[in-house]
Amino acid sequence: MAELILGQVLAFAGDPFAEGPGAARHERRGAVLVEGGKIAAVGSADALRAAHPGATVTDMGDALLSAGFVDAHAHYPQTAIIASWGKRLIDWLNSYTFPEEMRFSDSSYAETAAETYFDLTISNGTTTTVSYCTIHPESVDAYFGAARKRGLRALGGKTCMDRDTAPEGLRDTAQSAYDQSRALLERWHGVDRLSYVITPRFSPTSTPEQLSALGALWAEHPECLMQTHLSEQIDEIAWVKSLYPQARDYLDTYEAHGLLGAGGLYGHAIHLEPREIDRLAEVGASLIHCPTSNTFIGSGLFDMGGLTRRGLKVGLATDTGGGSSFSMLRTMAAAYEVGQLRGRPLHPSELWWLATQGSARALGLEGKIGNLAKGMEADLVATDLASTPAIAQRAARAGDLWEALFPTIMMGDDRAVSAVWAGGRRAK
Ligand code: GUN
Ligand code: ZN
Repeated sequence: MAELILGQVLAFAGDPFAEGPGAARHERRGAVLVEGGKIAAVGSADALRAAHPGATVTDMGDALLSAGFVDAHAHYPQTAIIASWGKRLIDWLNSYTFPEEMRFSDSSYAETAAETYFDLTISNGTTTTVSYCTIHPESVDAYFGAARKRGLRALGGKTCMDRDTAPEGLRDTAQSAYDQSRALLERWHGVDRLSYVITPRFSPTSTPEQLSALGALWAEHPECLMQTHLSEQIDEIAWVKSLYPQARDYLDTYEAHGLLGAGGLYGHAIHLEPREIDRLAEVGASLIHCPTSNTFIGSGLFDMGGLTRRGLKVGLATDTGGGSSFSMLRTMAAAYEVGQLRGRPLHPSELWWLATQGSARALGLEGKIGNLAKGMEADLVATDLASTPAIAQRAARAGDLWEALFPTIMMGDDRAVSAVWAGGRRAK
């Protein structure tokens, strides 16, 4: 049965970083036709109603219909410790993160956490997540199991750590990381809307042997993405230098072990050396910007202007629970503020594109998700542009779409998300 969803439609015909806001397509009285989990047509409400008289009509009024949000870097096991006070990266990991991740050896704990996590992401309009799990294979099964039940597109993998810098009880080995990652990849990759991502946590918690083993696994499975962390904090970079004295820089610890490539997702990537930027650009890797985390943990200011000018693909992400919100609206607001502090104010079209098509492109999924167009998977969010009195009174003064949207970007949260569809199924 076809469903015709009516509202203001926002889609992209190009990249606003390259083409400006004109890359967006806005239909004031628009419609999206959904059939069999895919988008069958996008157009004006009148034309699509006339062409599809048998479709069920869901009228979202003035709400803005767009692709669902794509959160390109998160740690679902950190859901319960989000907003933990007062530490910087290494102490934050030791004090809050690692003790919580230990609990995921219990599969029922992991399953409950995954359900809570997806309740929150869907409520915030996020229809695709890319998550680190824990070292426990059970945590990966819990994540993919919960996503599959809800018909979500989800990517993720077992977080590998074998060095004594990680606590006892939260370590695997080079061999077990390889074996367990491979078994999970074979179990989950390509099942329904799920993709396995090879996941060394970061160089400080892996031995060179483990990085090599995961590099070998990636070479055997180039269809998979690989995710890790890169140059998030200055102390972390010094730590990497002491653990890998041979390496030219942080990126080289990955490059030397087969973990640099076009399918690589490098989270944070704030304090990059010129050589690292050159290599990341040469191989066509993706950088994942985590602005609420970078301010919350005090990591630094991502150089969106410089890195996009170099042609690097950039995705946007919450980095739950180092990030302080599950909301991609709050994340767009933080990206705007960080941009301001670096002298590059991001236009609302750029912010919305980053949270949808930009993140999808960073994952190599731009042909499937992140936009409203015929043939795309039907992941949609309907956003109320007057969800609170403060937002409503500002939006009432708006002269165009961008002025109407920007107050919701800067002040909105899950209250602005009035409906969500995942794979054509109503999820909120
Ligand atoms: N670096 C290594 N692990 C993590 C993590 O869990 N969160 C953040 N923000 N950075 C990391
Ligand atoms: Zn992270």
